[in-house]
Amino acid sequence: STQTNFDMVLFGATGDLAMRKLLPCLYQAHVAGLLHPEGRILGVSRSELDRAGFLEKVESSAKIHVKQHFSDGQWASFIRRLDYLTVDVTRAEDFTALGEMVKARQQTENIVVYLSTAPKFFAQACANLAAVGLNADNVRVVLEKPLGTDLQSSREINTDVARYFKEEQIYRIDHYLGKESLQNLLALRFANVMFEPLWNNQYIESVQLTIAEQLGVEERGEFYDITGALRDMVQNHLMQMLCMTAMEKPASLDADDVRDEKVKVIKALKPLTAESVNELVVRGQYTADKGMNGYLQEKDVPAGSFTETYVAIKAEIDNARWAGVPFYLRTGKRMAGKVAEIVLNFRKLDTLIFDGSQAAPNRLVIELQPEESVRLYTQVKTPGAGNRVELTALSVNMGKEIAGRRQEAYERLLLDVINGKLALFNRRDELEAAWEYVMPILDNWATSTQAPHGYAAHSWGPEAARELLARDGHRWHEEQQAQTEA
Ligand code: BG6
Repeated sequence: STQTNFDMVLFGATGDLAMRKLLPCLYQAHVAGLLHPEGRILGVSRSELDRAGFLEKVESSAKIHVKQHFSDGQWASFIRRLDYLTVDVTRAEDFTALGEMVKARQQTENIVVYLSTAPKFFAQACANLAAVGLNADNVRVVLEKPLGTDLQSSREINTDVARYFKEEQIYRIDHYLGKESLQNLLALRFANVMFEPLWNNQYIESVQLTIAEQLGVEERGEFYDITGALRDMVQNHLMQMLCMTAMEKPASLDADDVRDEKVKVIKALKPLTAESVNELVVRGQYTADKGMNGYLQEKDVPAGSFTETYVAIKAEIDNARWAGVPFYLRTGKRMAGKVAEIVLNFRKLDTLIFDGSQAAPNRLVIELQPEESVRLYTQVKTPGAGNRVELTALSVNMGKEIAGRRQEAYERLLLDVINGKLALFNRRDELEAAWEYVMPILDNWATSTQAPHGYAAHSWGPEAARELLARDGHRWHEEQQAQTEA
């Protein structure tokens, strides 16, 4: 077989991410025939469980979370790969049994250790792994986000992990990079001739990047309150979307070629300052509306919390391609819709010989989710006598029009780790540059006495975010769209 054999040790195997995403995605890869027949997955966590108890848990959760064809027969063959071991990451003695179990498998080529645990355990887990030889060159380690809570702690984690693992053994996950739609952005830009020549400040007036979610913080109040949207979404997912949108063409799609270009974008971001944060960044928090709780009424959220559930930023990239083009970034919980999209607004024509609005002659919308689509808003003639033009979308819905099974982000990324492909993982310098960019915001908010701007549950965010764009004569996409469709 052409697949790579592997042993995967999954820390946090009974946790939320493993149950909802990692194990269901491994199952899907198994069904699709993408896992080596001998590949094994060893779940480990603190829970006192035996293999049967673990399998029971995995199965009941997989039945809910597997998106494509759950079949009892396939399941029975999948679980032959699974085993379980109780390990407390903080107890060095627990790792002896782990080391022996992996060694007993006698597959020495390719060992993946996935740390789906809180980052405060990373250093100790790595030290304990190293003590039993599980940091040799045949081992790759996967680190789940959030990697730290600020620049300092992120550096510490990276430094600790680097004591035991070389950079090329370290796979830092940002699951947005595993999304088909985000990779397609690179194809759109670099496999076509007609976009790239216009992809710059000469033709593009402004860019909007949105990740809006309809859900609130659900059961994660405790985690969320110490995290907030800036750390949960902006420092990582939005920043990666920004990089893919703005980066120069890499020399190849090899890991370091891509990552070299991404890091250049982050480093070219105009740094924020304590003062400019007040002007360029909006901190929001949802309030009760439409029968839904406000953030402050959610379970495990402390009274009077200032934690942001919404962030909007006006960013600028100081390089030849983008100088002068505002990049408006935003993300929020409990917003009016669930959507992740990139909107490029093109400049006005100098003159218009037709009747109609030339306020926004063209707009390219790349929707990452829920639909995977590309829409190019174009002026066309309104039928009949007269010379009116109107905006209409040339549109491709990839989900409907391009055949082929879609891999979920985590499936793609897990397969890439198994196969040793680093391109869709964050390099240390990239991650730290992203922390560096958001630090002035964190610092400002840490001491600010100004409460976040409220926005009603299931709205498009606070009024202040509207004003952020209005000042420049711009509007967020839902308003542009309402006008196009009116
Ligand atoms: C995670 C965040 O990284 O991304 C969650 O911790 C968020 O708060 C999720 O809901 C969004 O991912 P997706 O793939 O559903 O857009």
